[in-house]
Amino acid sequence: MQTKRSYIDGVHPEAELLKEGAAWLQAGELVAFPTETVYGLGANALNDSACTKIFQAKGRPQDNPLIVHVCNRPMANMLVSKWTPEAELCVQHFWPGPLTLVMSKTAEVSEVVTAGLANVAIRMPSHPVALRLIEETGLPIAAPSANLSGRPSPTSGSHVWRDMKGKIPLILDAGACLVGLESTILDVSGGVPTILRPGGISREQLEELLGEVRVDNPSGIQAPKAPGMKYRHYAPQGEMILMMGTPERIILRMGHEIQKGHARLKKVGVLCSLESAPFLHNRFPDLLFVLGSKDRLEEVASNLFEGLRLCDERGMDLILAEGVEEGGLGTAIMNRLQKAAGKRIRYS
Ligand code: TXA
Ligand code: MG
Repeated sequence: MQTKRSYIDGVHPEAELLKEGAAWLQAGELVAFPTETVYGLGANALNDSACTKIFQAKGRPQDNPLIVHVCNRPMANMLVSKWTPEAELCVQHFWPGPLTLVMSKTAEVSEVVTAGLANVAIRMPSHPVALRLIEETGLPIAAPSANLSGRPSPTSGSHVWRDMKGKIPLILDAGACLVGLESTILDVSGGVPTILRPGGISREQLEELLGEVRVDNPSGIQAPKAPGMKYRHYAPQGEMILMMGTPERIILRMGHEIQKGHARLKKVGVLCSLESAPFLHNRFPDLLFVLGSKDRLEEVASNLFEGLRLCDERGMDLILAEGVEEGGLGTAIMNRLQKAAGKRIRYS
C-alpha cells in the first residue's frame, strides 16, 4: 500500500487535510494522527473490520484492547453505560488531556475493541489535530499507539513513518508530541479508582481530586488489568540495563559497564540526565543521549522514546539508562524504563 505522509499544522490544522483523514476513516481505513501523548493509529471504533486492520498493521495480539478516542461528551455517552461520580470528576478536570478512563461499556462497543472485556477505555485527547479529526469524522476513533507491536511508542511523524510506511494510506504528521509518554489509564468503573498504567497525569494529581487512588499490580506479580501491560513493551533491540542509585555511583558503574561492553566488542549507548552527561562523555560511549534535566522530568518524558529508538537505529548492542526518582511523572518514566529493560535493573 502507498502511504501518504501529510504535514499538518499542529495548532491550526488545515481543513483539507482533516477532510482527507476523515474520508479514509469513514471508509474503514487506518489513519495515523498526533495526540498530545504519542501518535495514534486510528480506525472507526464502530466498524469491526476497520478495527481488525489495526491489529494486522501493528502485529498486535488480539487479546489487547484498544482505547477509544472521542471529541465530546455525547460521543462518549454513546459508549459508556455507567458514569460513576469519580468518572464525572475526572472528565471535568482532566478532559481533554492525557487521561484514559475505563468504564462499563454499552452494546455499541464491540468485542473487537475491548478484546471481550465488559469495560471500555475512553479518552478525549487535547491535541487540536486529534480533536478536530474526530470531530470531522463524526465517529469515535479506536487508536492504539502507532508503533509496530513491541517497539517504543512513536512521538514524532518520523517514528510513525518508519513503523507504518506501506501499511496504511495516511499519516498526519504534526511533528513532536508534547507529553511523549502514553496517557494514564484509570479504572473508574466502580470501587476505589485504580491506575492501570501510569502516564501523563500523576497519581498525586488524581488523589488530590478523588481521594484514595490505588495502583494495579504494583509488584508486577499478578495478571495486570490492562492486558497490554503484561507485554514487554518499549523494547529496544539491544540489551538494556536500568541503573539506579546515587548519581555518583551510577556514573562510576556506567563507566565500568561501558569498558566491559567495549571489551566484548559491543556498541554501548547511554541514556542519561543532563546533569550526568558531562561525567559520561569522556568514558566514550558509542552514543550518548541526553534525556533532559532531572529537575524537568517533562523533558525526560518527552525525549525517552526518541532515545530508545535512536539506540536501535544506531545499532547499540548494550544500552545503559539512568533511572529517575519515582513520584509524579517520574513514576511513569520509571515504568517505561523498567519495561524496556525487562528484568535487568542494577542498584549501586
Ligand atoms: O496516550 C495513549 O493512551 C495513546 C494515544 C494514542 O491515545 N494510546 C495508547 O494505546 O497508548 P495502546 O493501545 O498503545 O495502549 C492501550 C493500553 C493497553 O495496555 C491496553 O491493554 C489498555 O490500554 N486497555 C485498553 N482498553 C482497556 C480496557 N477496556 N480495560 C483495561 N485496559 C485497557
Ligand atoms: Mg502501545
